[in-house]
Amino acid sequence: MTITPPAINSLTPPPTSHAQGWPGLIEAYRPYLPVTDQTPVVTLKEGNTPLIPVPTIAAEIGRQVQVFVKYDGLNPTGSFKDRGMTLAISKAKEAGAQAVICASTGNTSAAAAAYARRGGMRAFVLIPDGYVALGKLAQALLYGAEVLAIQGNFDRALEIVREMAENYPVTLVNSVNPYRLEGQKTAAFEVVDVLGDAPDWLCIPTGNAGNITAYWMGFCQYHAEERCRRLPRMMGFQAAGSAPLVTGEAVAAPETIATAIRIGNPANWQRAIAVKEASQGQFNAVTDAEILTAYRMLAAQEGIFCEPASAASVAGMLKVKDQIPTGATIVCVLTGNGLKDPDTAIQHSNNPFKAGISPNLQEVAQVMGF
Ligand code: F0G
Repeated sequence: MTITPPAINSLTPPPTSHAQGWPGLIEAYRPYLPVTDQTPVVTLKEGNTPLIPVPTIAAEIGRQVQVFVKYDGLNPTGSFKDRGMTLAISKAKEAGAQAVICASTGNTSAAAAAYARRGGMRAFVLIPDGYVALGKLAQALLYGAEVLAIQGNFDRALEIVREMAENYPVTLVNSVNPYRLEGQKTAAFEVVDVLGDAPDWLCIPTGNAGNITAYWMGFCQYHAEERCRRLPRMMGFQAAGSAPLVTGEAVAAPETIATAIRIGNPANWQRAIAVKEASQGQFNAVTDAEILTAYRMLAAQEGIFCEPASAASVAGMLKVKDQIPTGATIVCVLTGNGLKDPDTAIQHSNNPFKAGISPNLQEVAQVMGF
């Protein structure tokens, strides 16, 4: 039988809005965002990240449930920060800013650098010396940020940049900047747009607590517009050595392998508590060992490489799995790409690396077990 290819003009043309591809989240969600025709949109076409089913992880729960990961590590600079940064930088440019500043455990600095430079601005980033994953530092440098490594942790760096922004002509682009959260809430819109409703649970790694606040804003806004019928329980997970929202007390010397969430005094603390209460959610802590187990499972069983902090959402869901109702739909947010932190991947892979093999067929076959 011969198969006749369809004539070109018989194909359905793509909808006009997507004829040029995904337009970036400001254009995609413009009616929901604080932008006007005067706002110069600085975009790298961020957003529209996949919601991926993770059946082997769902099977760990032992009941009929659906689990998805929102893989925000596929944003242009490799983390969810791009969602907030496209808006924060566009608004800074609209206001005539020439320089922006942030404190960062790495991802914010990469995103701030990329978007600021693209928007023609200087980017100053303060990072905790020695506690930023290699990929993130590489990004900030190559994007052209002015990188200042301070001998203190993220919390101290944030205090300094807040004061800098009050006293000098630099715009603060940490998540205390309201435009950051406005941009980040679009991730909740995307989840609902794909699922047709909000999930029952939203599991999310929590550091400075900007992202959990932003997701909740997004779900509530869509709910008010009747784009979803339910609202999720917001389940925030912190690393055990940096879990102020769990213990109720700031941590002076936070520690965890998940350096992205090595934060002892979250700037959005009060908002995070409000989200927990409004959504009947919880904050729980996961150990570094639990984070690493989930990190390896995601990669080796599901083919999804996220950074350690991101795996806290899956580690946390598994930790409190007894509370999951049968039939639930759960979304775990994977905030950053695994390529950000190659050192942790290599050091904590259980997979032996077979090196020093002589270049001949027999030896290769033997090592392969044939
Ligand atoms: N996951 C990753 C990969 C992060 O980089 C961060 C925060 C979080 C989760 C936590 O999000 O702070 O909104 O609760 N990173 C910030 C930074 C602090 O500087 O890149 P949050």
